[in-house]
Amino acid sequence: MTRATWRTRLGFVLAAVGSAVGLGNIWRFPWLTATNGGAAFLLLYLLVIVLVGVPGLVGEMVIGRRSRRNPVGAFAELGGPRWRVLGGVALVASVVVLSFYSVVGGWILRYTLASATGAYFAAPEQYFAAIDYGVGAAGFHALFLLATVAVVYAGVDRGIELATTVMVPGIVLLFGGLAVWVATLPGSGGGYEFFLSLDVAYLRDNFFSVLVAAAGQALFTLSVGAGAMLTYASYLGEDRSLAADGTIIAALNTGIGVLAGLVIFPLLFSLGVSPGEGGPGALFVGLAGAFGTLPYSRVVGVVFFGVVLLAALSSAISIMEVLVAYLVDEHALSRPRATAGVGGLFLVTGTAAALSPSLFGLLADTLANLVLTAGLLGFLLFDGWVLRRAALDEYETGAGRLARLTGRPWYYAVAVVIPLFLAFTFLTGLGAVAGVPVSAPAALALAVVGVGGAIVLLRSDTDSTA
Ligand code: TRP
Repeated sequence: MTRATWRTRLGFVLAAVGSAVGLGNIWRFPWLTATNGGAAFLLLYLLVIVLVGVPGLVGEMVIGRRSRRNPVGAFAELGGPRWRVLGGVALVASVVVLSFYSVVGGWILRYTLASATGAYFAAPEQYFAAIDYGVGAAGFHALFLLATVAVVYAGVDRGIELATTVMVPGIVLLFGGLAVWVATLPGSGGGYEFFLSLDVAYLRDNFFSVLVAAAGQALFTLSVGAGAMLTYASYLGEDRSLAADGTIIAALNTGIGVLAGLVIFPLLFSLGVSPGEGGPGALFVGLAGAFGTLPYSRVVGVVFFGVVLLAALSSAISIMEVLVAYLVDEHALSRPRATAGVGGLFLVTGTAAALSPSLFGLLADTLANLVLTAGLLGFLLFDGWVLRRAALDEYETGAGRLARLTGRPWYYAVAVVIPLFLAFTFLTGLGAVAGVPVSAPAALALAVVGVGGAIVLLRSDTDSTA
């Protein structure tokens, strides 16, 4: 059976942008920006995107296109059967992310419908508290999952590519329209100020905690570390520059993320809601609740949550595709059977997360950051010390002059510098979870020892088998 491929380059780029743009941009980003000092967070986040996110994204795609396989098959094919474990980490990361993601997707679906009737306008806080977890949440999660299954079931080119080619431009247009409209509301100016003016003292006093939060968010928003971009790149037919595609994908994702910020923050300010309030529920309580006071509140609510729903769906399909590709490639399942099986798995794990706030919090807050960081760390060390020259070749394939000039710097970044950074944020994050705060110098020292040790092992290993 021949493997599926994207029909066009634009189709691939839009599918990848659809994966990147999602709840991470709209729900997680404003919430983290608000709790990490506004523009201070934005600044570090943009730096991490450029210096870590883009090279890391390209490093992940290199493995997918080189092997033209799902994560497990890719590492086995390129590195030998032992490396299947690394693919296993990607599968686990995908399960962790989609299990809570589809619960939030269910909330969004519910709010889209509830906006049409104005159900939450009168008592937003009570409404969210009543629907966030429980049987209703599990039901809406199941509906969201069903929509995800339907797209993935239809296949790479006729399902995912077609759907995202329509959805991504729709997201841009609708958010653009909302951003313009929001600017006309009285009192919205404070929102731009909060979002765009830098508090240097805040940044200085909280540098490392803001950095760690920004790093986790950068990986999440670019969909790296769980094999989704690896899998999407494995469906590339022709050889085009991955560096160029990766840059375009990250730029569009960041642009749409900032656009979402330009809707959400001015709106909050114009409605007199402080963006620092409310944690993960901020979008649903502070923002949604305030919709009721606006002119055309139902229309605004349906349009706003409708765009968010599109964005969430185009991300969820990319995570599901990782597991479907694995079953199709490695276990010779037909796509319909694989999709049904994966849908069944998430029905169980997502229902558990919808019924248990503590499980949800564990998955969304702590585990997601850790598995994505660990996954990307493994991918990049694999590029740098197992693929080595082949990784650079893959980077340079189809590349123009600029991409060829950046080949070597990219290679060293991916082989050494970024792994050190990821190990550092991983250890800091792990310390925070375990309740044993790790100081920055200690985390750095441990990262150097750990990554250095791994590199020594990998070098002697490949030298002896070469
Ligand atoms: N990037 C998406 C968002 O911002 C979420 C997402 C899709 C994702 N695929 C992923 C996150 C793979 C991590 C890994 O909403």
